[in-house]
Amino acid sequence: MRHEPIGKELFIANRKRLVKKLKPNSIVVFNSNDIMPSNADGTLGYIQNSDLYYVSGIHQEESMVIICPDFPDKKYREVLFLREPNEMMEKWEGHKLTKKEATEVSGIETVVWVSGFDKLFHHMMTMGGTEHVFLNTNEHYRSEVVVESRDARFIEWCKKTYPLHKYERIAPVMSELRRVKQPREVALIQQACDITECGFRRVLNFVRPGVMEYEIEAEFIHEFKRLGSKGFAYTPIIAAGENNVILHYVENSRQCHAGDLILLDVAAEYANYNSDLTRTIPVSGQYTKRQKEVYNAVLRIQRAAFKMLRPSVVYFDFQREIEKLMEAELLKLKLINKTDIKNQNPESPAYRKYFYHGTSHMLGLDVHDVGNMHDKVQVGSVWTIEPGIYIKEEKFGVRLENNVVIGKKVNIDLMRNIPIEAEEIEEIMMANKK
Ligand code: GLY
Ligand code: MN
Ligand code: MN
Repeated sequence: MRHEPIGKELFIANRKRLVKKLKPNSIVVFNSNDIMPSNADGTLGYIQNSDLYYVSGIHQEESMVIICPDFPDKKYREVLFLREPNEMMEKWEGHKLTKKEATEVSGIETVVWVSGFDKLFHHMMTMGGTEHVFLNTNEHYRSEVVVESRDARFIEWCKKTYPLHKYERIAPVMSELRRVKQPREVALIQQACDITECGFRRVLNFVRPGVMEYEIEAEFIHEFKRLGSKGFAYTPIIAAGENNVILHYVENSRQCHAGDLILLDVAAEYANYNSDLTRTIPVSGQYTKRQKEVYNAVLRIQRAAFKMLRPSVVYFDFQREIEKLMEAELLKLKLINKTDIKNQNPESPAYRKYFYHGTSHMLGLDVHDVGNMHDKVQVGSVWTIEPGIYIKEEKFGVRLENNVVIGKKVNIDLMRNIPIEAEEIEEIMMANKK
């Protein structure tokens, strides 16, 4: 693996936290994700199932974890199933985890080859009073799963084979556990943020009129991989000029011209934990007066939001407050006027022409992490703060995005070292031109 060892203590503690949430006589099954096919014999880069990773730290395909805390035979209360390495597999694919290595990573003592799963699982389902079977599905509020996952196939098989057990959803439990980050997890997200910072500083050195958006992408990935990241936390958005009002512009194929702003929504992963950064920088190294006015309006909202997203606030109430601030800034920028507000349809308020997304989401093993958005904000959860103003008619937009840990007394900005003041960005970019 590219990253430093995480330490099995995190995963041992995560399993303990999970066990506390289960009913008596429960069994939980986690499946890894499939390697996704592309075309012919091609495959996409491997992305582990975040829940399996959360309880084990195992980043290997065809893995399973079973947790059965009340099983009489202690040996089987936690079992990790892995592909059995063989000479041919290792010749083609390289090293796979040994049982000893897997125990070292996860803290799970009983590691069994996955070929032995059916027999052992039958034993655990039929002996020792196992009653509740917790299985996993992707219940993220924005998920659109159009392919059948390993979890889905397992659910089908399991229910057919053991129709009279009581089936339960583990997803809400995982969502509740994962939304509050442990100190080790925060440290890993911080590391992802620090790698992102290095990429961003490299890009500040690199950008000048004439560069292509994809060349900027190459600068980022060079720095990320050099520093032990597997790569981008999400498909990077590098949008110069009028492209930067398109929220999910990912083509990154255009040239950057003097006078353009470039919106960079680009960040690194580290050890499967994610960061999520947006900065908006001037191609020529200096913002125009108008660009700076808009930039500073977004920055003021971001700074206010940092203080407003606090424990016991509900996200959707926070969003409404941010929208009020946004409305006031848009009035000052003369993008909307009082009559627009007076005549607005409440279903489609005037500000929405220029600010058309949410201000924050949780962040962790997933970029848009799990956690119930209708609950109060929790101490120890990690959020993005990412207001933006997008002015199609002026052919530019600005978004600024930082990642924060919600603290008991104050929030901690994990991106506090990443330049954000317009003047600081100009200074760095202009110094590089000398
Ligand atoms: N990079 C995705 C987002 O900001 O939510
Ligand atoms: Mn984000
Ligand atoms: Mn982002």
